[in-house]
Amino acid sequence: MKPLIAGNWKMNGSLAANAALVKAMLDGLDGKTPAADMALCVPAPYLAQLQSQLTGSAIAWGAQDVSSHEQGAYTGEVSATMLKDFACRYAIVGHSERRQYHGETDLLVAEKARLALAHGITPIVCVGETLAEREAGQTEVVVKRQLAAVIHAVAHCTSEIVVAYEPVWAIGTGKTASPDQAQQVHAVLRAQLAAATQHPERVHILYGGSMNAANAASLLAQPDIDGGLIGGASLKAADFLQIVASAH
Ligand code: PGA
Repeated sequence: MKPLIAGNWKMNGSLAANAALVKAMLDGLDGKTPAADMALCVPAPYLAQLQSQLTGSAIAWGAQDVSSHEQGAYTGEVSATMLKDFACRYAIVGHSERRQYHGETDLLVAEKARLALAHGITPIVCVGETLAEREAGQTEVVVKRQLAAVIHAVAHCTSEIVVAYEPVWAIGTGKTASPDQAQQVHAVLRAQLAAATQHPERVHILYGGSMNAANAASLLAQPDIDGGLIGGASLKAADFLQIVASAH
């Protein structure tokens, strides 16, 4: 299975900055097939821009969230059908920043994953423990609970999701989980997927949390780390391409 390296721009960018960043990435690829599948998850207002710049290229695009509702009186929300209008391949769901700052529960995240899949969008389901949970020995319990809600909601489509293990204490902090620490949790998630689908090996389990050009290779060398979800380093073309090149 080819690794997947997905960028998460978070709430960063502008028309001018995006155009330059995407151009630098495409120039860096120079028409060659990258060592990993690539995607950029960008703020919703820029999906049209990414669609026009990336159509026909090796880089897919996606959103950072999706509504748990189909349509209607949900001010500020963006539906899966709207994302589909802009040919999004992916939508991140349950990012820890959404769980933490927007009160998203396991159930809500699961519903978002289900709706995305129902509309032909691959959900990148984020799971991960806080520092307090890790120190209390709760890491496994927390990530399994978060993933279980999604597996329950998507049922026989479990092999179609992407999972991202993102320890909250590693996100944007410069503190990366060690390859061993990450692999341990990825193995737990793989085993959980194996109980839910006949093809657990088809599910990309990405690592996220301060992954960068310097540490990517050792993380991606782990048997159950199938790619990365990259925040800060996805805002720099050279770093992002270096991460992609270190995938194998
Ligand atoms: P980071 O973010 O790479 O900046 O730590 C990762 C994420 O939040 O997806």
